[in-house]
Amino acid sequence: MHFTTGGHHLNSMALLDILVYPDPRLRTRAEPVEHFDDALQRLIDDMAETMYAAPGIGLAATQVNVHQRLLVIDVSENQDALQVYINPVLIGSGELIESDEGCLSVPGAIVPVYRYPNIKVSALDRDGQPFEKEVSGLLAICLQHEVDHLDGKVFVDYLSQLKRDRIRKRLIREQRPTDLRSASSKEASAVS
Ligand code: NI
Repeated sequence: MHFTTGGHHLNSMALLDILVYPDPRLRTRAEPVEHFDDALQRLIDDMAETMYAAPGIGLAATQVNVHQRLLVIDVSENQDALQVYINPVLIGSGELIESDEGCLSVPGAIVPVYRYPNIKVSALDRDGQPFEKEVSGLLAICLQHEVDHLDGKVFVDYLSQLKRDRIRKRLIREQRPTDLRSASSKEASAVS
């Protein structure tokens, strides 16, 4: 018998803490994954569970303070099609398009970012097998957002200094361990 929630099996997975901007650890550049061992499988499962619980459509290892080039994505409507990308390399093409993005590390902020509409991605799967595919739409945007995290970039970097400061100050204020916490941190919807 299987007990599921929203289509996901509940095994012994654990929710991981997500770093929140302006945490300086989000600025770490991740190193390539070299060992496809049990610890990696466990990390992938925990990251997926953390992403689904948030809820989000993508999560980079950087965001859970693991500085390896690994990300999980699920852009399916029913959130039942997990994709794992290890050591991803992206090649973008097409005319840049503006998209409104959210980020689990920047709660409550929706930011317009210019991204490539088409992406050719080369990566390894969770077993270390290489694959390559061409993607577009939400998946292409999400991949660019998550690979930015692996490079120590956060999407607020694309904003003006003024707007970035405003978000930074709000998040610092909201992270104070008091009941002054604002309700606005719960607004974002499709975030990664
Ligand atoms: Ni993000």
